[in-house]
Amino acid sequence: MKPTSPQPARRSSATPINPRAVAAKVVTEVIVHARYLDAALVESLDALPPTQRHAAALIQEMAYGVLRWFHQLEAIAALWLAKPLKEKDQDIHALLLVGLYQLRHMRVARHAAVTETVDAATALKKPWAKNLLNACLRSYLRETERAQATIAAQPAARFSHPDWLLAEIRRDWPDDWERILAANNERPPMVLRVNRRRQTRAHYLARLAQAGIAAKPLPLTETAVMLETPVPVSELPGFGQGEVSVQDAAAQFAAVLLDAHAGERVLDACAAPGGKTGHLLEHTPGLVELVALDREPARVALIEQNLARLSLMAQTITGDAAHPAGWWDGRPFDRLLVDVPCSATGVIRRHPDIKLRRRPEDLPKLIATQAQILDGLWPLLKPGGKLLYVTCSMLPTENEKQVESFLARHADAKEVALPMNAGRARSRGWQVLPGEADMDGFYYACIGKN
Ligand SMILES: C[S@@+](CC[C@H](N)C(=O)[O-])C[C@H]1O[C@@H](n2cnc3c(N)ncnc32)[C@H](O)[C@@H]1O
Repeated sequence: MKPTSPQPARRSSATPINPRAVAAKVVTEVIVHARYLDAALVESLDALPPTQRHAAALIQEMAYGVLRWFHQLEAIAALWLAKPLKEKDQDIHALLLVGLYQLRHMRVARHAAVTETVDAATALKKPWAKNLLNACLRSYLRETERAQATIAAQPAARFSHPDWLLAEIRRDWPDDWERILAANNERPPMVLRVNRRRQTRAHYLARLAQAGIAAKPLPLTETAVMLETPVPVSELPGFGQGEVSVQDAAAQFAAVLLDAHAGERVLDACAAPGGKTGHLLEHTPGLVELVALDREPARVALIEQNLARLSLMAQTITGDAAHPAGWWDGRPFDRLLVDVPCSATGVIRRHPDIKLRRRPEDLPKLIATQAQILDGLWPLLKPGGKLLYVTCSMLPTENEKQVESFLARHADAKEVALPMNAGRARSRGWQVLPGEADMDGFYYACIGKN
């Protein structure tokens, strides 16, 4: 065949990208521009030329790893950065953290980690930073013990959490705090929810085995399956056909604990992206209606996409749960699932950027929003109906204390015992702590209407 002269577009897509530079840019988006890590990462990976897609896993590992160990890596970087880099050079700062992360947590040959990281400065169009990166990374290798001593002396660095959150968790969980912090810094398992309308869990496990994907059932639920190693969803048998979804086991309690029955009308009040909505429909066939509400229009679209994949139906509404006058048709509900916005401190292992993005001043605002949502929705519940309050938080102020003050404000509300087989009972409701039985941190409480 006659060779054709290469087109410019092809040439550029064949130019190898530097995965470290891409990871540094993603980290910069989070630490400087307060972006969500998953959104910034997806955007960067989508922009990779087709010939470079193989670098995606490495970029993801480095971006997540740096944010997981951010407070520790920052303490080390400070030892050798004579002065902070300028705002416009925070990508170089992030690249230094990427270099340190490789040296501490990845099985990359040391010289390769240093050389590739130094070279990434050129990819970021800042070759002047090469000497600086080289000097810092080599100093770390020479004086690792000094770095270890620094880490040991600073709790934020040792546990890789911000001081304020460390203090909250120590105070609230005096017997468990070290285990919680360690679990927060683990890589989370990939957990699936088998759609029981289509097949049994045992049958799906056999299909995974056939596909060469090692997995085991999680015994505290009837539907959860944990993979030995995460895989892209496109490799999961039947994912596109809605036979299985990705959802942590602790989140899979919601549909069961809501205790809805055929013939009932149910509101899923903070529903997006629709993980629990889908599970509810799989778990309880024959509901008269399931209304899935969320305040964010773009997120309501995600509920619709998820339900389309599962071939299930719900009425989706964009509206504010705290102000039902704007969207409620006046017909009461038998069940309310109220999975409120929260600190998300129970899912830090999945979203390590929470440790950077969340601020102590967010907590009073979140607690106020949760109370407004609960109060706003309460009149929508039929007498004899049940409200399931859910958070992915481990902070009592968002959990049992929130429920306690709700019960104090509403004479017609009483706590209903939950048949939980995981976690621990609190003064009100149940708490699963992060990492407990391989699960995310979740809180559940059920409130009945007299
Ligand atoms: C924890 S997430 C819900 C997760 C969802 N239940 C699932 O299982 O996939 C909380 C959701 O509440 C929504 N939200 C926040 N404030 C709201 C409000 N006032 N009214 C309705 N939805 C709200 C957010 O947009 C977010 O999608």
